[in-house]
Amino acid sequence: MSRFNPTLPLERAHTIPSGWYTAAAVAAAERTAVFGRSWQCVGRAEQVAATGQFLTADIAGEPVLVVRGDDGELRGFFNVCRHRAAPLLSEPSGCVGKLRCRYHGWTYDLAGKLRGTPEFDGVCDFDKEANGLVPVGGVAVAGPFVWVHLGPPTRPVTAEFEEFFARSSFAGLKYHSSSSYTLNCNWKVYVDNYLDGGYHVNTVHPALAGVLDYKHYRTELFDTCSVQTSPLTPGDGAVGATRTGDAAYWWLYPNFMANLYAGVMDTNLVLPLDQDHCQVIFEFYFNTDVTPDFIRDSVAVANTVQDEDVRICEQVQRGLRSRSYTTGRFSVKREAGGYHFHRLLAAALQASG
Ligand code: FES
Ligand SMILES: [Fe+2]
Repeated sequence: MSRFNPTLPLERAHTIPSGWYTAAAVAAAERTAVFGRSWQCVGRAEQVAATGQFLTADIAGEPVLVVRGDDGELRGFFNVCRHRAAPLLSEPSGCVGKLRCRYHGWTYDLAGKLRGTPEFDGVCDFDKEANGLVPVGGVAVAGPFVWVHLGPPTRPVTAEFEEFFARSSFAGLKYHSSSSYTLNCNWKVYVDNYLDGGYHVNTVHPALAGVLDYKHYRTELFDTCSVQTSPLTPGDGAVGATRTGDAAYWWLYPNFMANLYAGVMDTNLVLPLDQDHCQVIFEFYFNTDVTPDFIRDSVAVANTVQDEDVRICEQVQRGLRSRSYTTGRFSVKREAGGYHFHRLLAAALQASG
């Protein structure tokens, strides 16, 4: 861990060591230091718009639920019953009147208060008031997304990712569908690949390369997010039809990306499974005025790009295990975003000891 030096300028910097991508101990440290201390996208605002609507999520092994209360408040809790730790809710989303544990039937109201404890009379020193569901540190709706912060947040999500919310327009975008991929690589390999400033576009994504104006592709860094932007040039086929306007590729620390083109947004959420595997969830949004053909072509383009990325990321993970490789250098012209990520990650791990 000590071999990464975050104080060097980009021209002199090295990547985090390969062991950070392959060691179970680092993956365990990240669960607390990174995923336990960052805003995590857990779903879409439309899923919890009405009273009783809920969604569940897993944040690096922590089960959580978000539910809209009778009073209209959105609340987030650990999805763990106070009796024997069974989940209160098992479905990804839905609508309930109360939270009833399926194991022994304890019930909690939508504000997390323990209400019913069948056959529990005679239990001494048991304070029902003190046995409500444990709340997460923060929950919020921002943009079309729902966010959870497991620990106490240092600032609201809208302040954390201020530039993203200020510069992105979600007006007119409607959720269409999701797809999920399980990758044989550490979650950071996928993030690194995303943050290389278009360095791999010409080589890995030949079709996409045809419409990106690579000369004007640039990366801007902010406190805990970054954006890669590129004007798009007219192109042929499905790529040309669906990738127009300006491309904006937002990365929000540590594991969320939003890719915006005219009429299209797709988001990528990268979930760590263990040190060698991650899950990437794509969600596709389209402007309400686009045609079914446009949607079909756009999803196909995203799938092709994703397949190309999956292949290279899995190969990189194998390379990171090689005794021949420890760290690499960064392109000053292209890879400022990757070093930014490594510095944020190292700072988080260091802060937690
Ligand atoms: S674990 Fe929930 S009621 Fe027993
Ligand atoms: Fe890529």
